[in-house]
Amino acid sequence: METKEKLLDLFENNRGVYLSGQDIAERLSISRAAVWKAVKSLRSEGYSIEAVRNKGYSLAVETDILSAQGIQKYLKPVCQGMELEVLPALASTNTMVREKAAAGAPEGYTVIANNQTDGKGRRGRSFYSPSGTGIYMSLLLRPRQYASKQAVKLTTMAAVAVCEAIEAVSGKKAQIKWVNDIYVAGKKVCGILTEASFGLEDGFLEYAVLGIGINVSLPMGGFPEELKNVAGAVFCEAQNDGKNHLAAEFLNRFMTYYAMSPEICCADSYRSRSLVIGREIQVIFSDGSKKAIALDVDEDCRLMVKYEDGKTERLSSGEISVKF
Ligand code: BTN
Repeated sequence: METKEKLLDLFENNRGVYLSGQDIAERLSISRAAVWKAVKSLRSEGYSIEAVRNKGYSLAVETDILSAQGIQKYLKPVCQGMELEVLPALASTNTMVREKAAAGAPEGYTVIANNQTDGKGRRGRSFYSPSGTGIYMSLLLRPRQYASKQAVKLTTMAAVAVCEAIEAVSGKKAQIKWVNDIYVAGKKVCGILTEASFGLEDGFLEYAVLGIGINVSLPMGGFPEELKNVAGAVFCEAQNDGKNHLAAEFLNRFMTYYAMSPEICCADSYRSRSLVIGREIQVIFSDGSKKAIALDVDEDCRLMVKYEDGKTERLSSGEISVKF
């Protein structure tokens, strides 16, 4: 770790606490001049670090900037060994992690961006990823002997983990619109895009890139016109350390589920959070849509639907729309 990263680690673990220049210098085995230089550098990145004579330096508790150090302080042992890379801006975290995966990056490699200029959504759509108000994260997973049925469960685990993480930090109820959109108070606050590569010979998953985009607070100036009616955020405004906390709560929960057998995880939790069971929906096909009732979600998280003509179907992927 560079001096600046070590200092950030110290500050993140002591938010609101004054640490003298001498104390910091001794703890990091650096000179006081080096402490000052690192403080200046962190300030230039937006960190609010107060300096008070005879007290020292303190990172303001209100600070809400994503960083590996800020996330790590909340992580549980289940996340041990994960490599976190937090970057100010990227085209797409999924694209970056896919490239790294192809080059042999290890299981658990995770990239988080503060802003995406070409965020990817499902079905070739884009994902609006403005700076400073969201978490745009991609995890590289290399589970052993996952066929496509098990691979689908990665998205299920992620959807349940996001809901639980949102509820833990905000106290608000989060629900799942099949297949993987997360809603709070009738608005979409999170989308999940899982991209996978399967072995040609054995048909097993080589790797999956699990991409999660969470609107943590409302973007400055609001959402663009075309998203205004559908998109929302977990919070109206930035919270003290809100993004690091939420990112870590997600990782702790997701990695706990990921350690379980995909056969037993997490159909019940997924079902109990469903926003669509019992509702009238439109099942969207490439050439149109069909009215149906969403009956249930089965053990494999397929949506059981009944069309107007009485025929039933279990959908394992696809797109539906529902009126709220
Ligand atoms: C959707 O709602 O259609 C899925 C959106 C997924 C967005 C996330 S943000 C992090 C990761 N990187 C991307 O380019 N996309 C996913």
